[in-house]
Amino acid sequence: MSYLIGVDIGTSGTKTILINPQGHVLTRAMAEYPLYSPRPQWSEQEPADWWAASWQTIKEVLDKSGVDPREVKGIGLSGQMHGSVFLDANGEVLRRALLWNDQRTQDECDWITNIVGRDKVVELISNPVLTGFTAGKIVWLRNHEPEIYARVRKVLLPKDYIRFMLTGEYATEVSDASGTALFDVRNRKWSDEMLALTDIPRGWMPASYESPEISGRISDVAAALTGLAPGTPVVGGGGDQAAGAVGNGIVETGIVSSTVGTSGVVFAFSDNPVIDPQLRLHTFCHAVPDKWHLMGVMLSAGGSLQWYRDTFCQPEKVVANSIRRDPYELICEGASQAPVGCEGLLFLPYLTGERAPYADPNARGAFVGITRRSDRNHTARAVLEGVSYGLRDSFEVMEAMQVPINQVRASGGGARSAIWRQIQADVSGHTHVTISVDEGPALGVALLAGVGVGIYASVAEACKATIHVADSTCPIEANHAVYDKYHKVYQSLYAHLRADFADIARIA
Ligand code: XUL
Repeated sequence: MSYLIGVDIGTSGTKTILINPQGHVLTRAMAEYPLYSPRPQWSEQEPADWWAASWQTIKEVLDKSGVDPREVKGIGLSGQMHGSVFLDANGEVLRRALLWNDQRTQDECDWITNIVGRDKVVELISNPVLTGFTAGKIVWLRNHEPEIYARVRKVLLPKDYIRFMLTGEYATEVSDASGTALFDVRNRKWSDEMLALTDIPRGWMPASYESPEISGRISDVAAALTGLAPGTPVVGGGGDQAAGAVGNGIVETGIVSSTVGTSGVVFAFSDNPVIDPQLRLHTFCHAVPDKWHLMGVMLSAGGSLQWYRDTFCQPEKVVANSIRRDPYELICEGASQAPVGCEGLLFLPYLTGERAPYADPNARGAFVGITRRSDRNHTARAVLEGVSYGLRDSFEVMEAMQVPINQVRASGGGARSAIWRQIQADVSGHTHVTISVDEGPALGVALLAGVGVGIYASVAEACKATIHVADSTCPIEANHAVYDKYHKVYQSLYAHLRADFADIARIA
């Protein structure tokens, strides 16, 4: 028998699955780790925590399955994008990694944009330089921690650090490299010009592969820790969004995904590297060789609901605990009791700034329109609706660019709740379908591993063999009409508050 393993190094934890070639999950394991926010807008994690979570979950899926490790034919790695792991000449981690939702680098992004030139940046990397992306983090280190900067010899993305620990190879792949702001997305290679202009050594960048290509093999040391067979191939894999798209079957034009994890992402497949003229969406390489994607990324989608749960929902947590249910289910049940549109209570989900459609590190969250009638159900529903309005913003940009949207596949935690799925369908006006296997990026990279080792002929074939539509949620016209009106107010609130958010950031 042949088996495949997919590892996804997420922001809240690492998830590892072991599948058979039909895409059935035999075993899965999760391990969580902390996120550090030493200052407002800063967001960091310890690469050692990712490594411990990765080898432990690989060991757990193998042990639980009873599969002979030699039957694991390939491994794929996925992970949160854009993070910076700074390594010295011995491959030792020099400081905590700065994450995708860290907003400290606006000055550095402005410096890069000025030194390279705004148009030239887009010509070189097909995107603007944004605070979440890796380039600004490297320049920030140079400006603020020069002693550490002087010792840097390699900069890796989160999942690529795990590859290094598993195989000893310094390598990445095109989908994740696209989010560094140092990668020539059109030509799928490092941008020597961007690196030279920003004075970042070319040698700090790892070798870059297409996502299904074999990038290294399990070392003896990693084999002893994980229980894997030495020499097992590790393929390029993918940034979590591109990998999640493969795991959702977003491998042809017209199928778009809407994924609510910590972030919220609307993702469309593309045959060519098309660019939003206003640069609100990212144009990145897909994990499908020679294909690209367009995506709009909200920074706090599920993250908003998580904040709401942790800040306001102690009662739900207590009840959920006593009846062995998930507090999110109780929060969503409460939300379903509030009327569509929450009688004018709106929530802006910009808790960690925002990226799409507004690249604004100063943006903040807000409840607007509170009245004496607003209760817990209203506030919970307002959070679900606010995130859905934010996702609609990205759909609208795609529609304006005439990106075909024939089917929307809902995934992530936000797709598990029937009420949130309905709200997303009602707000966007698109039918949201769910698929048979909801394993996201971990499944995507396990399939990419299967392509790399020859189990499937192509990424599209891998998806066809394993992924099927399971359920669909159609928009309710009357609700859509209400949301149409509130969505305009939602957009106008940001426009009105933008300057105030900047003032608040200056004062705070
Ligand atoms: C994508 C992005 C997030 C992170 C964390 O551009 O920043 O989706 O990858 O999931």
